[in-house]
Amino acid sequence: KTRVLTGITTTGSPHLGNYVGAIRPAIAASRSDDVESFFFLADYHALVKCEDPQRVQRSTLEIAASWLACGLDPDRVYFYRQSDIPEIPELTWILACSTGKGLLNRAHAYKAAVDANGAEGDDPDAGITMGLYSYPVLMAADILAFNAHRVPVGRDQIQHIEMARDIGARVNHRYGEHFVLPEAQVDEQVATLPGLDGRKMSKSYDNTIPLWLPDKALKAAIARIVTDSRAPGEPKDTAGSALFEIYRAFASAGETAAMAQAFADGIGWGEAKQKLYERIDSELRPMRERYYQLIAKPGEIEEILRFGGRKARALAIPLVSSLRMAVGIAPLF
Ligand code: TYM
Repeated sequence: KTRVLTGITTTGSPHLGNYVGAIRPAIAASRSDDVESFFFLADYHALVKCEDPQRVQRSTLEIAASWLACGLDPDRVYFYRQSDIPEIPELTWILACSTGKGLLNRAHAYKAAVDANGAEGDDPDAGITMGLYSYPVLMAADILAFNAHRVPVGRDQIQHIEMARDIGARVNHRYGEHFVLPEAQVDEQVATLPGLDGRKMSKSYDNTIPLWLPDKALKAAIARIVTDSRAPGEPKDTAGSALFEIYRAFASAGETAAMAQAFADGIGWGEAKQKLYERIDSELRPMRERYYQLIAKPGEIEEILRFGGRKARALAIPLVSSLRMAVGIAPLF
C-alpha cells in the first residue's frame, strides 16, 4: 500500500491555506483502499516558533478537531501527536549525524532568518536557535519513521521533503536500505493560497482567513481581501487576484471558468466577494458544525490521539530499532 503522511504545526488556528494545501487533499487520498494514511500534529515543530505553552496546547486541540471535522476516520488512519512518538526525536539524532551542515545552511527558513538579521549585523545567526536550524531534520524523521511514499503539502514545504529524501538516501547509502524516499504531492491549483494581502496565506504574515470563522466573521474577513480600485462594469484581471485564486481553490472547473468570464465582464468586487463567501460557506458549513461540537469535548479528542499514538508507535519502534542496530547501538531492553 502507498503510505501518505502529512503534518501541521500547532502554533495557531488552522486557516484556509492549511485546509486546501494539506487537510483536504490528504483526507481525499485517505479514502482510497490502496492508501495507508498518517496525519499528525507537529507539536515539537511548534516549539521552534512559539514559546507560549497555552497557545501550543490550544492549537493542538483546534487542529486535531479540524482534522476530525473534515472527515478523518481515526480507525482507518494513523492520527497522532508527534510528541507521543519518542522514536521521532530519537531518529532525528541519528539522521542529524548523517546530515551535512551545508544542506541545512540552504534551508529557506534558516536563510530568511539570516537575511532578516541584515548584512551589517556582527552575527548573522543572532537569535537563531538550533531548533530552527535543525527543523528539516526533525521533519525528515517524521516522514522517514513511517516510510511514507507521498507527502501532500503546499508549495512552501517542497524543499523540506527534498531534504528528507537527501537525508534518507545518505542513511541508506551508509547503513543499508532502511528508508523509502518520499515524494511531495502538490496540487498545482492551490499550491500557494494567497492571504488577505495577496502574499502567501500564513500565520507569520497575519493575513489568514481562519478555517472555522462563524458566518459574519467569515464575511468580514472576505471583505478585507485586497482588490484594485476598478469600479463595477470595468473588466478585472484574474491574474494576480487573490480573490480569484481563493475562489478557484473552492470551486469546480466550470464555476471557475464562469467567474473568469464575470471578471472579464466587469463584475463588481462586492458581488464577487459575495460569491466567494457563498462558495466557501457551502463547502465548510457542515464541517464547521462538527468542529464546534468536537472542540467542546477535549477529553474525547485526547482519547483519540492516545489511541492513534499507540498505533503509530507500534510501527515506528521496529523501524528505529533496526536502524539502532545498523549503526552499532544496542537495541532497547
Ligand atoms: P504548516 O503548519 O506551516 O502548514 C501545514 C500545511 O499547510 C500548507 N499550507 C499552505 N498550502 C497552500 N497555501 C498556503 N497559503 C498554505 N499555508 C500552509 C503547508 O504547505 C503544509 O502542508 N513543517 C510543516 C509541518 C510538518 C510536516 C511534517 C508536513 C512537520 N513535519 C512532515 C509534512 C510532513 C509546517 O510547518 O506546515
